[in-house]
Amino acid sequence: MVAMETLVSLCKRRGFVFQSSEIYGGTGSCWDYGPLGVELKNKIKRAWWRDFVQRRPDMVGLDASILMHSMVWKASGHVDHFTDPMVDCRECRHRFRADQLAETPWVHYCPATKGNKFTIPPGEACTHCGASRTLCPDCGKGELTPPRQFNLMFKTFMGPVEEDASVTYLRPETAQGIFVNFDNVLQSMRRKLPFGIGQIGKAFRNEITPGNFIFRTREFEQMEIEYFVNPHETVEGRPADEYWHDRWIEDSLAWFRRYGIQPDNLRLHEHDRDELAHYAKRTADVQYRFPIGWSELMGIANRTDFDLKQHAKWSGKALTYFDDERKEHVVPYVIEPSAGVDRALLAFLADAYREEEVRGEKRVVLRFHPELAPVSVAVLPLLKKRDDIVRTAHAIRDGLSRDLTAVYDDTAAIGRLYRRQDEVGTPYCVTVDVQTVGDTDKGEAADGKVTIRDRDSMEQIRVEVSRLGQVIGDLLGGTAWAEVAAAAGRS
Ligand code: GAP
Repeated sequence: MVAMETLVSLCKRRGFVFQSSEIYGGTGSCWDYGPLGVELKNKIKRAWWRDFVQRRPDMVGLDASILMHSMVWKASGHVDHFTDPMVDCRECRHRFRADQLAETPWVHYCPATKGNKFTIPPGEACTHCGASRTLCPDCGKGELTPPRQFNLMFKTFMGPVEEDASVTYLRPETAQGIFVNFDNVLQSMRRKLPFGIGQIGKAFRNEITPGNFIFRTREFEQMEIEYFVNPHETVEGRPADEYWHDRWIEDSLAWFRRYGIQPDNLRLHEHDRDELAHYAKRTADVQYRFPIGWSELMGIANRTDFDLKQHAKWSGKALTYFDDERKEHVVPYVIEPSAGVDRALLAFLADAYREEEVRGEKRVVLRFHPELAPVSVAVLPLLKKRDDIVRTAHAIRDGLSRDLTAVYDDTAAIGRLYRRQDEVGTPYCVTVDVQTVGDTDKGEAADGKVTIRDRDSMEQIRVEVSRLGQVIGDLLGGTAWAEVAAAAGRS
């Protein structure tokens, strides 16, 4: 698995992710997506939206506001319970999550070795003196304060007056915007259970220990679905909520595999009783083998009827569904597949990263799924001194860019241009050369063909410019390179 530092450095160098406000020294845990990062992020979101919202007859979309009525957060339990236990070092003032201390490496000045400094792996004792960690893991000197509960929501004020009555919060999850709109969607779209509402949007959490690049940040994006089911129904002999929970787990895993994540790097983690939120009947996390180890990529929870009942209680509005068959009002159960966009991006990036040896040289290549690659096609002129070649290359790029992300580059020799595109995961390069446009001085006629180079095999084929859009479209749509190459050979 690629090291996190390698990814961070590639992301900065090639315009994927920059540290936020870097010229002022950066802000803790905030990141900006650069020209290629924003393309990758948009393509991940577009694929998710298309597959889970547009293509499914049982799904609709929503875009709720980030600022909501403060009562939403009281009803949802976030004001009272969305907390992490925090401890501070009395010496260096560093802050830690009390429940993560056992997973943190710790600095130790060992009395058995004349006070030598060691960094000891998480949870282990010093092999020289046998001591376990009691002091600050960072400085190894300070006592830690007793744990205090710290609310993770960002507080703000609605309107010009900073008073208690105008306090509200930046949403810490997109889910609540869906719950409070349940009845609006039900009525306006005339839905029957089961159906789901999908939403993509920003969420904010004042994390005590953000870090690991874009893995845990204070501002991030979520792709969430609340899937409402009738708890009185059965599907294939099982309670509907349990059946749909399993279906969403399978569909979520399949989605990541479909866009190229290697199956061995995905696994399921079932929450045990201690981990389970008080409202959840069952939660399973999809974990990915990140450079920092196996960690949560997304969660799929059965939230029961907790949220709708809470909002009904606090708002005084009925949030029920009329079951025509049983002639009764029911509060639906909710299955919630909830994924982080930034974590998905990190997983796709880490999974795509390869270092290969080609003719004795190292080649770095991001083997992105063609639909996710930030740049779909790069159009490259073989000779930038020839106006007709450059003009043709620009015209080809302009044509392709109507339907896909296409770039033009002539800032280096062709070999280097190919390597640069490999490093950002561009699946296809199109090269315009002398044969394409012909050479009147030498009396050579134009053949009207360009070379397409495949990122993964590095093989090349020649196709007519008139067929290029179709061929590239087929390749990006999933037609195998071998098939296209065979057809090009025949033409
Ligand atoms: N509505 C349910 C919910 O928010 P969660 O497990 O707290 O559940 C869902 O968050 C997903 O959001 C996580 O699996 C992760 O991908 C992403 N996420 C949560 N906190 C994050 C953070 N601080 N930085 C980046 N992504 C985060």
